[in-house]
Amino acid sequence: MKPFAELIKLRQSTREYTNKPVEREKIIQCLQAARLAPSANNSQPWKFVVVDEPQLKDQVADCTASLGMNKFTFQAPVLVVVVQDKENIWSSLGGLVKDKVFCHYDIGMAVNQFCLQAAELGLGTCILGWFKEEKIKSLLNINKKKRIALMISLGYSPAPIREKKRKSLEEMSCWNTNPLSGSVSV
Ligand SMILES: Cc1cc2nc3c(=O)[nH]c(=O)nc-3n(C[C@H](O)[C@H](O)[C@H](O)COP(=O)(O)O)c2cc1C
Repeated sequence: MKPFAELIKLRQSTREYTNKPVEREKIIQCLQAARLAPSANNSQPWKFVVVDEPQLKDQVADCTASLGMNKFTFQAPVLVVVVQDKENIWSSLGGLVKDKVFCHYDIGMAVNQFCLQAAELGLGTCILGWFKEEKIKSLLNINKKKRIALMISLGYSPAPIREKKRKSLEEMSCWNTNPLSGSVSV
């Protein structure tokens, strides 16, 4: 097992894949990691649709590639489509009262847990938000009323680990005060 501090550096958006198929046991391990993610009121408002049948996968890949984006999905042997499922009543009521859409946060966390587990197993992933939602729904027979929140490409990759480009700690955090309130100059 890799230490967490190492794992979060290993996880990166992987846009280059080998054609080595991904073992189903490994995909299941990633799904198990997503399954254990926290969610508002333990609502678990997600369904992970794994697409690993090559022809269908290419058809789905075609729905992600446009305007120069996401061509690498044709290389990835697996695409996972994350469908937003019904929240439980407490989560939707809480969201209504607090003016928040909790299921979006929930899905983000589950997707990240999937990707971190994949990294631990030596697999590359890329989270995708750019795709033709309606086309994918009809290809995979997903209810038209449901939303596809995100997708994940998955596979083995020859790509080296890059240095992360991130805001500095000072830019992204503060202690005991709120620079966004406007009362403090930053
Ligand atoms: C919600 C979301 C949507 C994203 N959509 C895409 C996408 O459609 N195509 C893509 O190549 N990368 C996509 N990314 C990856 C981001 O560009 C990437 O996470 C960011 O640049 C940081 O790089 P890293 O993941 O390598 O650390 C997405 C990431 C997130 C969290």
